[in-house]
Amino acid sequence: MEKTIKRIAVFTSGGDAPGMNAAVRAVVRTATYYDLHIYGILRGYSGMIEGELKRLETKNVGNIIHRGGTMLKTARSKRFMTKEGRKLAYESLLAHDIDACIAIGGNGTFTGASIFSKEHNIPFIGIPGTIDNDLFGTDYTIGFDTAVNTAVEAVDKIRDTADSHNRLFFVEVMGRHAGHIALSTGIGSGASGILIPETDTSIDDLVLMLKKSSKRKKLFSLVIVAEGNQNGGAMEIAEKVKNKFDHYDTKVAIIGHLQRGGSPTAKDRVLASQLGFHAVEGLQAGKKNVMVGIVNNQIKYTPFKKAISSQKDMNQVYLKMAEILAL
Ligand code: F6P
Repeated sequence: MEKTIKRIAVFTSGGDAPGMNAAVRAVVRTATYYDLHIYGILRGYSGMIEGELKRLETKNVGNIIHRGGTMLKTARSKRFMTKEGRKLAYESLLAHDIDACIAIGGNGTFTGASIFSKEHNIPFIGIPGTIDNDLFGTDYTIGFDTAVNTAVEAVDKIRDTADSHNRLFFVEVMGRHAGHIALSTGIGSGASGILIPETDTSIDDLVLMLKKSSKRKKLFSLVIVAEGNQNGGAMEIAEKVKNKFDHYDTKVAIIGHLQRGGSPTAKDRVLASQLGFHAVEGLQAGKKNVMVGIVNNQIKYTPFKKAISSQKDMNQVYLKMAEILAL
């Protein structure tokens, strides 16, 4: 028979994402509503191993809904990747009588949770929190919308100076393995080109595309590059193409970690609140070792294994549209 859940722990892990605090707030308040005792684990799996747990009450999560970063701190734990590390983590959960955990993070976080769940009997529910939006089982992850808004705002500024100087700008956005940020940023900022890991645009294709747009008397061009693109990041690509365009002065801008910080957008706050709420509801309903997500406006619980191993499709209509609108 399954144990009744009375005490739960929540933690954030992996790269931080704007909206993680809003998710923690929703988890703590929903859990408190159901008379559950809730603990926050500091620094993700590292803190779980070290036994860094603290009791959270509704007042502890006041005034955080609008804050970027994570009040629980985060980490990428090498020790949790070992069996011995996971055993220590299990022992510290037992020492605090934790019956279930809510993990807020991305791919690495759920990979850890999935392995842990096979070795130890403490149910986990995952909340997708990563700017990359690369998890299967949810249309959006917490932080993606804020990151795209930050990137678009930056590209708008670059556009002004690119226009003034007739420059070809390669702007690099985050996304080690996924091009979702680059695609939305490219569409939202009206870029001439978008290079993402999921498509195989060659340097020759890129040069051809840029030549076409310069023939149409485009006086400047913006190309958005996902950091994980096969032909390299923005620096490498600019190096490969700059000699082909003597009428443009080629420049590179890397937005970097700016995309990870800042106050979450309203969309991310609402998403985080919904997922935090439904994570606790899911635990109450007996769900375990699943990630809670929203697909077509419906709450869905997807097994960790599927969420991390299935490829989230690139929106093909977006890809086609981006090409047409760049003409
Ligand atoms: O997973 C989110 C992400 O922001 C990636 O897009 C990026 O490649 C990576 O994290 C950078 O991580 P860190 O800041 O920990 O080096």
